[in-house]
Amino acid sequence: MPLDIIIGAQWGDEGKGRLTDLLASESDLVARFSGGDNAGHTVAVGAQQFRLHLVPSGIIQPHTICLLGSGMVINPVTLLAEIEHLNRLGLDISPARLKLSGAAHITIPAHIELDGIEDRLRGGQGLGTTRRGIGPSYTDKASRHGIRAGDMRDPSSFSDKIRARMHASAHLLESLYGHPCPDPEKTAAEYGEYAERLRPYLADVGGLIGRALEDDKRVLAEGAQGTLLDLDHGTYPYVTSSSPTTAGALQGLGVGPRHIRRIIGVTKAFQTRVGEGPFPTEVFGEDAVRLRGTGDNPWDEFGTTTGRPRRCGWLDAVLLRYAVRVNSFTELAITKLDILSAVQPLLICGSYAAEGQQFRDLPDTAASVERFTPVYEEQIGWNDNIWDAHFWGDLPPAAQQYIHQIEQLTGIKVKLISVGPEREQVIRRESLV
Ligand code: GDP
Ligand code: IMO
Ligand code: MG
Repeated sequence: MPLDIIIGAQWGDEGKGRLTDLLASESDLVARFSGGDNAGHTVAVGAQQFRLHLVPSGIIQPHTICLLGSGMVINPVTLLAEIEHLNRLGLDISPARLKLSGAAHITIPAHIELDGIEDRLRGGQGLGTTRRGIGPSYTDKASRHGIRAGDMRDPSSFSDKIRARMHASAHLLESLYGHPCPDPEKTAAEYGEYAERLRPYLADVGGLIGRALEDDKRVLAEGAQGTLLDLDHGTYPYVTSSSPTTAGALQGLGVGPRHIRRIIGVTKAFQTRVGEGPFPTEVFGEDAVRLRGTGDNPWDEFGTTTGRPRRCGWLDAVLLRYAVRVNSFTELAITKLDILSAVQPLLICGSYAAEGQQFRDLPDTAASVERFTPVYEEQIGWNDNIWDAHFWGDLPPAAQQYIHQIEQLTGIKVKLISVGPEREQVIRRESLV
C-alpha cells in the first residue's frame, strides 16, 4: 500500500510527466500502464529537458524502479534509443531499474506503415495519429495475432514470429493498399538483435507491483494520453487505441483496486488537443497564439512527439466533470496556470447548449460533443507573473478565484498547481480534505 494514479483529464499533454517526476520523489515504483511511443512527456530539471516516450518519467529520480506494464505497446527501436539517450544524460537505466512486462505487445515496422496509410485512406476524416503504429499494434493484440515482449526470451523464435507477421502484413499492405512493406527478412534479423538486448529487462510486472503493495511500498502509476482519447470513453473515433483511464491503469498493470489511495486528474488551466476531432471551446487567431505561444519556449504548445502545433481553447468544465466521473478522481492537479497571466478576461465553459436546452453535464457520450455550443462563465484575470509562487498565499486573488471556480464546477479539490515547467514550480495543497 498505497497505489497512486496519475491520469490525463483532457486530450493528453496535460503535464502528467512533470507531475510524475515530482511525485516519484515519494515513490518506490513508477509504472506506465498504457499506450506506446505516441506519448511524449517533457520534464524540465534545471537546465536539462528530459523528453520521454516509453520510459516512465519517474526514472529521473535516482532511487526509483520503473516498470512498463502489460497494457503498453513497445517499439523496441524507440525503447533502445531512449535507454541509450537517457544513459548519455547520466541516468542509470540498467535492468535493475527498468522492467518490461512480458505481456506488453511489440510494434513492428508494418504497423507503422499501416497506421500511416489507413489514416490517409480516411480522406477528410483522418484522425491525425502520431504515425507510431499504435492502432495496428493494438489491432493485432485484439485479434490475437500480436507478438508479446515475453517472446523475446527466445530471440531466435521471436525473430521467426516477427518474420511471419511481417509477411502477413506485407500481403495486406501490398495487395489491399498497393503499398510496399519493409523487408520481412531484414526486420526479423534486426528484431532478433533487439531481443538479445532487451530480454534482460523482462519481468513479471504485475507480480512485482502486487508484492510491492503487500510490502507497503509506494507505487505510482503514470498515465499517458488523456481521458478524452480513451478508446471507449473518449471522443470516438478521434481517440487512441488504449485506455488511459483509471480502469485502464489497473488492467494495464495487472492489479486490482484495493490498494488505491489517490487518483490525481491532471488538467491544464486551459484546453489543448493535437490531431483531429471535436473541440467545443477551441479558439483561433491571436487568442490561440496567446495560449499556444510561438514555439520559442520549450513549454509552448507544440507536440513533444510530432512537433505539430497544438490546438488551444478555454477550459471545458463539462468535459472535466465527465473525466471526474469516468475516473473517480480524488483530486485535481492544474498545470500551466502561469500561461493565463495577463489574459483578460478569462473564460471557462461551465455548461453546454443545444436545441434551446442547457446542459451542466454531458447528456451523452463524449463522442457527441460536436453538437453542443459552450456556455462561458467570465472572470477577471490577473496581470502578475506567478512563476515564483511557492505557496497558495503567493497567488494573486484572481488566480485563487480561478482555482476556486474550477473546484466549484467539478466538485473536487485542486491539490497541486503548477506555475512553471520546472520541477519545483508546484504549489502543494495536499493537506486539504
Ligand atoms: P504530458 O504528455 O502530459 O506529460 O505533457 P507534455 O510534456 O507533453 O506537455 C506539457 C508541456 O508543458 C511540457 O513542455 C512541460 O514542460 C510544460 N509544463 C508543464 N507544466 C507547466 C507549467 O505549469 N507551466 C509551464 N509554462 N509549462 C509547463
Ligand atoms: P501524451 O502521453 C496528445 C493523439 C494523436 C491523435 C490520436 C490518435 O503525451 O499525453 P495515435 O497515434 O495514438 O493512434 O493517435 O491521439 N495522441 C495524443 N495527443 N498527447 C498524447 O500523449 C497523445 N497520444 C496520442 O495526436 O489525435
Ligand atoms: Mg505529451
